[in-house]
Amino acid sequence: MGAMLENPHKPRALALMATQIAKSFGDTQVLRNIDLNLAPGEVVALLGPSGCGKTTLLRIAAGLLSASSGKMEIAGKRVVDGSAFNAPPEVRGIGMVFQDYAIWPHLSVLENVAFPLRMRKLPHHDRETRARRALERVGLSHLADRFPGTLSGGQQQRVALARAIVAEPPLVLFDEPLSNLDRELREGLALEIGSLLRELGLSAVYVTHDQSEAFTIADRVAVMLGGEIAQIDTPEQLFAAPASVEVAQFLNIGARIEGRVCHLRGFTCNRDRLNLPNLANSAPEGPARILIPRTAIRPATEGALMAQVLRCQFQGDRYLLHLGLDGEGASLVCPTDHAVALNSHIPLVIDSDRLRVFPQ
Ligand SMILES: Nc1ncnc2c1ncn2[C@@H]1O[C@H](COP(=O)(O)OP(=O)(O)O)[C@@H](O)[C@H]1O
Ligand SMILES: [Mg+2]
Repeated sequence: MGAMLENPHKPRALALMATQIAKSFGDTQVLRNIDLNLAPGEVVALLGPSGCGKTTLLRIAAGLLSASSGKMEIAGKRVVDGSAFNAPPEVRGIGMVFQDYAIWPHLSVLENVAFPLRMRKLPHHDRETRARRALERVGLSHLADRFPGTLSGGQQQRVALARAIVAEPPLVLFDEPLSNLDRELREGLALEIGSLLRELGLSAVYVTHDQSEAFTIADRVAVMLGGEIAQIDTPEQLFAAPASVEVAQFLNIGARIEGRVCHLRGFTCNRDRLNLPNLANSAPEGPARILIPRTAIRPATEGALMAQVLRCQFQGDRYLLHLGLDGEGASLVCPTDHAVALNSHIPLVIDSDRLRVFPQ
């Protein structure tokens, strides 16, 4: 009897535990060294450029593709063990939302949403009650009896979302669910998905190539580059401390400049025309790249760095300056409250605490 009760003091198993997952198609390795742990209730975004392996990793988690090596557990249950063991999708009990909705045209909205409960052999009455509740959560109660073909793209994606959460699965997987929708709809739905996951306490892996979507939805963001997780952190931490120049570049954090670190003089480049003496990080001497985050610069009447105004873009409540750093290929954007003449040269003040040095 006692064995049936969950021990309230026993920590719940991780929603997802992936260890050293790798995947090759023939001779081409598309995933390597993937370690990814999700606490119960945590939402992690996989953010990376097209082709970096996001969908491949998600399909391995879903059971739609086998891994070449590595292990995976979902809610404490082993689902992948090397290339030898790959539990089928239906026993993993996860919810999924894809880019192309994948809802059934011959079933009504209500039947679509109730489908995962039918698979779990819940009684008819429970299925209907829970499916109606899920539809209410995504704001579609009034469309329960309609067929998907009569709905807009945004509405169809809400049906897919309701279906993915109806069984309150241990893990929900999203693969670029909003990329077929127009921008306004995308921003609104991203916010809604984020709050829905939090209200229900669901764990999710959310794949996207869109930084603002990832930051809106996820607690932590895994930046994927070339088949590897380059860094996994909160959005704030990714910006404050990018692990590599590549991560900083992908996130478009700021300008990158090549030069040298010298302990006496700080960072110098371009035959000493640019000199940043007060480096906060104690980087080793020698060739280095420095990252000047957008947040580290401010136009002023005099400053350490000169920049040329390449574009001055009116944005309703402010102007966005696109700046080229004099003598460097690098460019930066920065907001101001007044227009600045094109091609003029303006001084920038640099907050050296925010500079990051990457030794080469
Ligand atoms: N079935 C497959 N056979 C061969 N190569 C594949 C297959 N699926 C994906 N790839 C390759 O794996 C890489 C990662 O693809 P994918 O996971 O779809 O990337 P993403 O979702 O990040 O855009 C790509 O180079 C893609 O061409
Ligand atoms: Mg993809």
